[in-house]
Amino acid sequence: MVPDLVDPTTYAEHDMADVWRRLRTGEPVHRHPGPKGAPDFWVVTRYADVARILRDDATFTSERGNVLATMLAGGDTGAGRMLAVTDGPRHTELRSLLLRAFSPRALAGVAERVRLLIDRLLAEAVERGECDFARDIASAVPLETICDLLDVPAADRQHVLKLTKTALASDYAAPDAAEDRMARAEILLYFTDLLQARRRRPGEDPISLMATAEVGGRRLSDEDVVLNCYSLIMGGDETSRLAMIGAVRELAGDPGQWRALKDGEATVESAGEEVLRWTTPTMHFGRVALTDTEIAGRRIRAGELVTLWFTSANRDEDAFAEPDRFLLGRSPNKHLALGYGRHFCLGAHLGRVEINAMLAGLRDRVAGIERTGPGRPVYSNFLAGMSSLPVALKG
Ligand code: HEM
Repeated sequence: MVPDLVDPTTYAEHDMADVWRRLRTGEPVHRHPGPKGAPDFWVVTRYADVARILRDDATFTSERGNVLATMLAGGDTGAGRMLAVTDGPRHTELRSLLLRAFSPRALAGVAERVRLLIDRLLAEAVERGECDFARDIASAVPLETICDLLDVPAADRQHVLKLTKTALASDYAAPDAAEDRMARAEILLYFTDLLQARRRRPGEDPISLMATAEVGGRRLSDEDVVLNCYSLIMGGDETSRLAMIGAVRELAGDPGQWRALKDGEATVESAGEEVLRWTTPTMHFGRVALTDTEIAGRRIRAGELVTLWFTSANRDEDAFAEPDRFLLGRSPNKHLALGYGRHFCLGAHLGRVEINAMLAGLRDRVAGIERTGPGRPVYSNFLAGMSSLPVALKG
């Protein structure tokens, strides 16, 4: 029996590693019923099949939604405008424009400030002794970093951080939908104002790049720029945060791997990749088939929804040796946590900078990590991890 993969509580209440293992070995392409009148969707769980679909964007499109929520609702309102749900030449053009702001060279200043921020947060936490790693440390890093990347003026930071936290909160089983919607509308308004300022005085940040460049022979509309700003916040906030929280949870319970990090037996870079594989913050992404096709012997019809479970692919015994062990020195480690193919994560370098800076900070500033409470899982059918993680960080 496969539990209801649409219900957010499923992931906190089932042994999902076992569910994925059974699907990979027994029914690697599984047909899942759609909830309340929504169409059925395919559940793809093996590494090789997930990678093949991610590579084949001629057969599988992102333009009809790329996560369960939007696919089941019939599509994404940002389709053809927001990078992650745009395909074809428009995607290529918009992506190469944005990549200019995401290259390691362009991000050098942001990366340095991430390291300073993490250093300060860890030093404060060690001083206090106990903290909620999720709330007090990890939640501050990605949003600050994205605000830095987008060059949000210092005076507006607190306001923007508060709005984004409200809009994106997924740590309760029943979030306040009205409050979320209001916050989302306010963020869009805020970025519309910021865009006007950047049109007048462009800088080097992604908003300025989008404000001044042409895509498809035309300037991007205000709405398109703002939508893409919003998607950068969405794409970069909880993902890196959940990876960092997951790293601390694992290190607290695994003295051998903690030692490997402390002693330099595993480099921060390889540890970061294993944290990504192990935590896989985005459990799935999805595509819609454009033509009739076949995956692992199952017939998929044009128009059908296909979900790709990275969380399962990253534990596939055919792709990884000892997949159920958290091994910071793992090599090779070709995980899919950041995707693959044309839509490979635009913020991959930035996400890695944040995770690796956190691992380096823990290695250098913290002598031991101890859990001091049970914490709380995120309730979502898309994101995985903890929204609260009480720990003692010892100096
Ligand atoms: C795409 C995961 C950090 C922005 C993706 C995809 C994955 C992913 C799996 C592929 C989606 C697909 O194939 O449909 C992650 C994880 C992160 C992370 C696990 C952190 C650990 C970031 C950051 C940003 C970002 C920091 C930006 C500030 C994006 C964008 C795309 C994307 C814009 C769409 C790229 C495209 O369609 O060409 N991410 N991401 N991500 N990510 Fe990330």
